[in-house]
Amino acid sequence: MKNIEDLHHEILSNIGSVQNLDGLEALRIASLGKKGAITAMMKQLGGMDPEARKKSGQALNILKKQIAEAIDGKKLVLEQELMDRQLKSEIVDVSLPVRPETNGLVHPISQTIEEVVSIFSPMGFQVMDGPDIEDDFHNFTALNFPVNHPAREMHDTFFLNREAGGERHLLRTHTSPVQVRTMKNTKPPIRILVPGRTYRCDYDITHTPMFHQIEGLVIDKSIHMGHLKGCLIDFAKAYFGVDKLPIRFRPSFFPFTEPSAEVDIGCSRSEGELKIGAGADWLEILGCGMVHPNVLISCGLDPEEYQGFAFGLGVERVAMLKYGIPDLRTFFESDLRWLRHYGFSAFDVPTISGGV
Ligand code: PHE
Repeated sequence: MKNIEDLHHEILSNIGSVQNLDGLEALRIASLGKKGAITAMMKQLGGMDPEARKKSGQALNILKKQIAEAIDGKKLVLEQELMDRQLKSEIVDVSLPVRPETNGLVHPISQTIEEVVSIFSPMGFQVMDGPDIEDDFHNFTALNFPVNHPAREMHDTFFLNREAGGERHLLRTHTSPVQVRTMKNTKPPIRILVPGRTYRCDYDITHTPMFHQIEGLVIDKSIHMGHLKGCLIDFAKAYFGVDKLPIRFRPSFFPFTEPSAEVDIGCSRSEGELKIGAGADWLEILGCGMVHPNVLISCGLDPEEYQGFAFGLGVERVAMLKYGIPDLRTFFESDLRWLRHYGFSAFDVPTISGGV
């Protein structure tokens, strides 16, 4: 049998040097467990003479208590160390800079539509939409296009295959069919703004087969050319952010308006640089006019009672002018480098509604 003194030393030094809780538990079992060293010595007490049993018994009990205390003490230390290690490894450094995030950007088309809408909304215009696939009546006939008008030709307009015995549909060539749909369904006063996709067989630096327009229509009993001019002058100044913007109404022709005009804004084009708001040159931004009486009649309104004005502007066109985008085709090429350059952040871009 080992001497109690030696055992004392051995076990306590083992407890002192053990590194983890598993090792400590193994030591506990090896000393105090059922088959442990101390337990084995306790069992041998029975064979001793009473004097020796008493002495050894007392010594063993003290040893047992010391070992148990040493184990408990060490356990606390090891548990604390474990906790410290865990806390260190799970630490969150709130002072670290945030990781760069790849945010999506707002396409200039969406941005421009939002800007235009936010200028007209406070004037009482309501946003409407209509179908991209139209019929002859809404796209042409009701808008006073004569039967042989060139826009009705295949080389200008995308026609869909005629259904057996049915009508010939087409991709709308402008947003004006929504005027017709609205006038047919709504009793004036009408004040609508219609952003949407439009389609024509065209492809060059200023044309793509699909592009966007925003249509405006105002119908009431006493709407006149003065309202048309005031409304569009206010719009152009707000959109381009130039208070003294030179604006002119140049007589023009559309089948669905009479009189008709194109709106030009003043600009300069010196040294290949376009500057909006001053200079001797003019730049066309939209078409407009007083709604033709034939259109009112086609839509079930009496031209003796109602009149109004309409306008249509090309979204890409005004976006290109405002944001200096040189080629219209790039709007639809989905080139991420282009979008990163011309796109708008969803939150920090000034819009008219959000404040410039
Ligand atoms: N619909 C015309 C176009 O596409 C634009 C326009 C709309 C002109 C309303 C006048 C009035 O060219």
